[in-house]
Amino acid sequence: MTRPPLPSDTPILAADDPSALDEAVRILKAGGCVALPTETVYGLACDATNSEAVAGVYEAKGRPSFNPLICHVDDLERARTLIDLGETGETLAKAFWPGPLTLVSHKRAPSPVSDLAAAGLDSLAVRLPRSKALQTLVARLSAPLAAPSANASGTISPTTAQHVKDSLNGRIHLILDSGPCPVGVESTILSLLDPSGPVILRPGGAAREALEPVCGPIAQSQSTNQSAPTAPGQLTSHYAPNAQVRLDATQPKAGESYLGFGAQPRRDDIVFFNLSEKGDLVEAASNLFTALRWLDSVSDRIAVAPIPETGLGEAINDRLRRAAAER
Ligand code: TXA
Ligand code: MG
Repeated sequence: MTRPPLPSDTPILAADDPSALDEAVRILKAGGCVALPTETVYGLACDATNSEAVAGVYEAKGRPSFNPLICHVDDLERARTLIDLGETGETLAKAFWPGPLTLVSHKRAPSPVSDLAAAGLDSLAVRLPRSKALQTLVARLSAPLAAPSANASGTISPTTAQHVKDSLNGRIHLILDSGPCPVGVESTILSLLDPSGPVILRPGGAAREALEPVCGPIAQSQSTNQSAPTAPGQLTSHYAPNAQVRLDATQPKAGESYLGFGAQPRRDDIVFFNLSEKGDLVEAASNLFTALRWLDSVSDRIAVAPIPETGLGEAINDRLRRAAAER
């Protein structure tokens, strides 16, 4: 699929204008990305089930690494199809959704969500925001929307449509505007993965004091209660293959499977996956986690072709270096 071409000047349209929503649906179905308001900050949304669309979002933000993205839903029912909420999650969702609370739990299998959006993890972050536009778009697509904050990587989160435009003009397809975000800080991220109780991974719009009467005592993640602040992405455990990974391999050695990139002669004698025959880094990113999972399931040693350190190549190489690191 080819994503729609990027406009040189990204339009800002009113989020309550029906024709603007039609345009957003058209762009999202074609694999493009649309910035839209939530109660916390503006998000940069794409179809969470479309890996190339997700890669396009990372590219637009200039993300140096692939942090897992939050999947946004339009109702509790759709959240249940994506993650196992459990009793605590159900109680919290009923009390706080729609609102600034993100719940991380075990992903349902098989999952409709792209491996790239979940950064290869078996868990998934899900939230139902207080945003009419977003809820309408999810319902019309009949798919969750993956959306990081709509700012260039490393800059502060946008709380107006103009902030989005200042940061990402010409890099995204459309901006929907509904004025300043009422909450103004990102959602609280609460993990339900620890059987001993919920853990705050990122403090945010839903205060601990509001959450605890509903779900009982909440532990603070090791990484957030230290004096040195940690970037949200670093709180996350990363997908790590069991296989040994060897980088910058122009050729596989005997016994290795091969993760290729760019024009390369077909090899039928080895286990081989080409991330992108065209040498397209967006396509390569969209295939990365699926390829790693597959090679990991069929081989003990994976050799990886050199990948250019430009554009999304930086994020691809970041993840590959982590996958290759000594454990
Ligand atoms: O308010 C918000 O949460 C905004 C709006 C747009 O919804 N979104 C937002 O997304 O702040 P982002 O990508 O800037 O931050 C999401 C963070 C990631 O950095 C990651 O640490 C965490 O959510 N996250 C996502 N999936 C996770 C998972 N499976 N396990 C742990 N953390 C996860
Ligand atoms: Mg962010």
